[in-house]
Amino acid sequence: MSVETEPRLERRVPWFEGDVPPEKVPEKYRLSRAFVPKGRYLDPEFLKLELERVFTKAWLMACRVEELPGVGCFVEYEIGGHSILIVREAKDSIRAYFNACRHRGTRLARGRGRVGSLICPFHGWRWNLDGSIRLVLDREEFVPRSDDDLGLVQVRAEQWGGFVFINMDPEARPLLEYLDPIPRIFEPFQFEHMRYRWFKSVLLPCNWKTALDGFLEAYHVAGTHPQLFRFDKSNTNIASLKELENRMWAPTTVYERHAHYSSVGQKKNVVAENAAKDPSDRGSTEAITDERLAVALSVQYIADDMRGLENERSWRAAEALKTAEVPEGTTAGQHYLQLYRELSLAEGYDWPQITAQQWAEAGTAWNVFPNTILLPNQGSVFGYRARPNGLDPDSCLFEIFSLDQVPVADYDKKRDFQPQFFEDFREADLGEIFTQDLMNAKEVTVGMHSPSFDGHRLSEEQEMTIYNHHRVADRFLWAD
Ligand code: FES
Ligand SMILES: [Fe+2]
Repeated sequence: MSVETEPRLERRVPWFEGDVPPEKVPEKYRLSRAFVPKGRYLDPEFLKLELERVFTKAWLMACRVEELPGVGCFVEYEIGGHSILIVREAKDSIRAYFNACRHRGTRLARGRGRVGSLICPFHGWRWNLDGSIRLVLDREEFVPRSDDDLGLVQVRAEQWGGFVFINMDPEARPLLEYLDPIPRIFEPFQFEHMRYRWFKSVLLPCNWKTALDGFLEAYHVAGTHPQLFRFDKSNTNIASLKELENRMWAPTTVYERHAHYSSVGQKKNVVAENAAKDPSDRGSTEAITDERLAVALSVQYIADDMRGLENERSWRAAEALKTAEVPEGTTAGQHYLQLYRELSLAEGYDWPQITAQQWAEAGTAWNVFPNTILLPNQGSVFGYRARPNGLDPDSCLFEIFSLDQVPVADYDKKRDFQPQFFEDFREADLGEIFTQDLMNAKEVTVGMHSPSFDGHRLSEEQEMTIYNHHRVADRFLWAD
């Protein structure tokens, strides 16, 4: 006989060891089945709790290794009221420090740059790049203090896939454990051999989670990006009934901390129903019947509009596919990958083999808890990151970056990199798809403030990535 010791909320997402029973969560923030109360987005008090208990304990993606090409290069990472410096202290060592002087607290450095030592702008105390104190002016006037006491306070910094993550909690478990199963699943994608194509950050008038939520499900594609159903871009009206049947269907998978959705095309039952009605219907759109064109135009639309996830080589492979002889027994998609592979190898790129099983596990978009999203593809990756803007729950800094694999000969080559910031996303030249997504941010926020609205009612198939984020946050917020 099993004895239920804790009340268990019925939910689609499994219970993981360490999940918080509902009664531990204040009622106004309590999740119920596929429902997220709006206070978790709108209350300044909830944001304060996130800043105190989530961002100070979770591993946070702070920058890419390539942003610290030489000894003495640093990047400042800000979150909430915290400022942290990530510094290359030696050729093969990156460390992070709280960006605060040990004398009277002054912030030591801003933005990004390169220094020989860290020097406080106020009274000139200095530290070596390894954080040890180098100079205290008139030290004899101070109460004797050990060098340890005067050293910069370290923040954990560990790396995976060319990313540097930081953690303010000295007791945190190692990054690779925290990220599980992401490092295993993404091993063949070789993120470490990718470099920035571009990085844009924008201010959005919404909660930091609202910004991420818009990219954590593909359920919105029919409503927000109807053009993706037809490669004829003149058709931007809301999808016809037929197109809605053919829409992308993207069920979610959740793990202990992270979650992803996978775009798999039509729901299985819809495919079966359509095939019964019309045996020639294999789920293609009405507009394009040549499978080669369907594959090629969708690759090229993403490459041209989003300038990421696809790259210049995959664009050319798609172009070649349009007129290619597709061998018997091979789909247009498989043949496209074959063309992309040949082109890549011929031009000095590695082509790691990704098995069908690995593609299936990789999914489409991952929430790397708490505030990063990764969209993997062969040769290119998109990443998004959202951070609260000060203590305003209705404002955030949203960042989008596009990474491309580089040729093998360039793995050790240093490159210039400049992130771009835009106060208004409409000036960021982000293309049609991103613009459609970002337009939603304000509308969601205005609507959420309506007294008629109590919380998100989520799809139990396609929006559990969003629910999962809140489930995991509860473990940080209310575990003790
Ligand atoms: S506050 Fe930094 S040296 Fe005085
Ligand atoms: Fe979208």
